[in-house]
Amino acid sequence: MHIVKDQDLTGKTCLITGANSGIGLEMTRCLSSRGCEVLMACRNPYEATTVVKNVCSDISLLRFYETNLATLRSVKASTDEILKKEKKIDIVLLNAAVFGLPWTVTEDGFETTFQVNYLSQYYLLINIEKILALDARIVFVSSESHRNINWDSHKTLMLSIDQLSLPKDEYTSIRAYNISKLCGLLSMHYLAYRWLHTQKQVFCAHPGSFVKTRLCRNWWVYEALYTFMKPFSKTICQAASTPLYCAISPDLKGVSGIYFKDCKRCSESDIANDLHLSFRLNDLTSDVIRERVGSYDDVIDRVKRDEYGKQHHAEDETVISNYSGTINS
Ligand SMILES: NC(=O)c1ccc[n+]([C@@H]2O[C@H](COP(=O)([O-])OP(=O)(O)OC[C@H]3O[C@@H](n4cnc5c(N)ncnc54)[C@H](OP(=O)(O)O)[C@@H]3O)[C@@H](O)[C@H]2O)c1
Repeated sequence: MHIVKDQDLTGKTCLITGANSGIGLEMTRCLSSRGCEVLMACRNPYEATTVVKNVCSDISLLRFYETNLATLRSVKASTDEILKKEKKIDIVLLNAAVFGLPWTVTEDGFETTFQVNYLSQYYLLINIEKILALDARIVFVSSESHRNINWDSHKTLMLSIDQLSLPKDEYTSIRAYNISKLCGLLSMHYLAYRWLHTQKQVFCAHPGSFVKTRLCRNWWVYEALYTFMKPFSKTICQAASTPLYCAISPDLKGVSGIYFKDCKRCSESDIANDLHLSFRLNDLTSDVIRERVGSYDDVIDRVKRDEYGKQHHAEDETVISNYSGTINS
């Protein structure tokens, strides 16, 4: 794959959620083939170990962390383990997702798609923020389908958890999926703003549409549709290009808060680009996590302290001046 071809990633560490399948597995293969250590956050590390043996040339670069994104308890246990064992993480690829599920609620009381695709991965990121490299890159694997969510101004001003974690009578699997992807884009803008005076970068990447992976496994209609579309869609290898481009390309030095498609900058929907909404989403996300995880305030306080310390001591800090989000209020 040309994105990683000339890159020497020796000494770099990348965490990938959902690294055992589809696009996540391909990114694991590509990055480890260039010397990058990959932390595979998967819900079934045994299965992941078996899969990578057939795919990756050097499995000594891979480490497995059992992470079930359908429970905050599992994410907490996994990130505690990561913090204990790892020193620094340079790249985070928030890639795991579910699609096409019937309505179900997690043990934390959230609609499953919302929790797996967004909430738990945001929580994971905040938990490991302490060991992110000063110039870390975060990539949310996104989707063009975020455009299908169009809240009116009342809904964006009064953002509530029922809008995100859909109740049964408002649920369709595609709507839940689109909302989760919109949340990823909004979080990108929130983090790009929060990290404005640091070297950390955050991007969203659309891999391609109807890429035949296991994403469509939950409903035979989607399985049939993706199979039908396969000759007209990107291969898994091609689909991994844009998230990998965001993760490692030197072209992106000094920029942040940008949505990419086909390895090119692309405008997200107006709602996804609303900085005020991104702050509201962050507040709401923090509140609902805080209600369920007692230690969340400690994590936030620690992150703020570390951020303050790093901002005042890092000598080679560059201010990222071209923040791309807009304030739509
Ligand atoms: N395929 C497409 O056409 C397409 C289009 C746009 C965007 N995307 C995005 O691309 C990303 C990768 O998707 P993919 O197509 O490669 O699908 P995939 O092959 O189904 O991979 C999804 C990954 O997420 C993991 N996952 C699901 N539920 C989990 C949970 N509760 N805890 C931990 N991990 C969990 C899966 O693990 P298990 O194997 O254990 O289930 C799997 O590793 C997703 O963010 C998706 O939204 C895909």
